[in-house]
Amino acid sequence: MVRSLPPVIAIDGPSASGKGTVAKTVARALGFHYLDSGALYRLVALVALEAGLNIENELTIYDIALKLNAKFEDDAVHLEGRDVTDAIRSEAVSATASAVAALPTVRRALLERQRAFRKPPGLVADGRDMGSAVFPDAVLKVFLTATPEERARRRYKQLMEKGLSANMAALLQDIQERDARDSARAVAPLQKCADAVEIDTTAMAAAAAALQVVARYRQASRAP
Ligand code: CDP
Repeated sequence: MVRSLPPVIAIDGPSASGKGTVAKTVARALGFHYLDSGALYRLVALVALEAGLNIENELTIYDIALKLNAKFEDDAVHLEGRDVTDAIRSEAVSATASAVAALPTVRRALLERQRAFRKPPGLVADGRDMGSAVFPDAVLKVFLTATPEERARRRYKQLMEKGLSANMAALLQDIQERDARDSARAVAPLQKCADAVEIDTTAMAAAAAALQVVARYRQASRAP
């Protein structure tokens, strides 16, 4: 008898499209595990930044990605036992994460680590290449989008809520630059797979998008 692997729901999309919130809500609703793949790239970036490395030090960064000692617990992320939940969300780490994510060796180093999150009863994975590269056999692939302006507004609101200062024009520019870099890279670029369902969340709350994903998953897993 062929033992089937636990189901995966892949949720990909550009920065601040609401992937994280939607993916977590879907995982909670279905009792599934959750993979925030972006956090892995952010952890590699944090270690590289703290070690004073730059992107030319590819071999050392590859080694960091292979040996990453990280733990995910609820909403917290620990690195070598240290709580880095907020540290990995800084603007400096965001920019470096997008740069290290363009290194093919780093992507390869993180591949098996991401696949290890696939455990019963199932997994909701969020990122850029969940449906295209990491879980090509996902039972449901979703591509979440929103206009760059709306995504910049969301980022602005998040920063304000944290009591941080922000500049709308700079945030919009950062989002556009990150989109361009994530879409143009040679390995696992940000793209909508042919078999992904696109959900535009520009005028949609995350809870409504999550409901749509759950409904589509139920449909897809019932299909013969
Ligand atoms: O929060 P945001 O969507 O901006 O970023 P994230 O999902 O935390 O990912 C941080 C960076 O990692 C992104 O800019 C991507 O370049 C990269 N990334 C990736 O290349 N592949 C993934 N599966 C997830 C993230």
